[in-house]
Amino acid sequence: NTIYILNGPNLNMLGRREPGIYGGSALADIEADCRERARALELEMDFRQSNHEGQLVDWIQEAGDRADGVVLNPGAYGHTSIALHDAIRAVSPLPVIEVHLSNIHAREPFRHQSMIAPVAAGMICGLGPIGYALALEALAARLRQEDA
Ligand code: DQA
Repeated sequence: NTIYILNGPNLNMLGRREPGIYGGSALADIEADCRERARALELEMDFRQSNHEGQLVDWIQEAGDRADGVVLNPGAYGHTSIALHDAIRAVSPLPVIEVHLSNIHAREPFRHQSMIAPVAAGMICGLGPIGYALALEALAARLRQEDA
């Protein structure tokens, strides 16, 4: 089984970017953690980042053909993007788990809304990089259930 892990805008800056909010891990560190976790769960993983909304839409569409699940940290597009919302609907029932490193509900009001959550299988926020690992665990459990 293959999982796409997709990261949105500014997440390439992790480690240098507002470390008080996002922590000291670089995206490459999170990728390495995910790779280890995916191997333990016997999942193939494709880990990507883009600052471009349309690229993320393309990747979600691609996941519809090639993946069994998606972990998506949409960055700020999570709060604004009807296009990402629609892309997830378009690949339904492919499970997408939304992840945010920070607790978006404890931050500015403009971060409290998610365009992704209503079409996601679930959402994890506020737990830092562990959120990605938990999302992988949840997708693995779903896939095992489907196989059973
Ligand atoms: C984020 C939260 C978003 O509000 C913000 O725009 C980001 C990162 C997070 O992982 O906490 O870029 O998605």
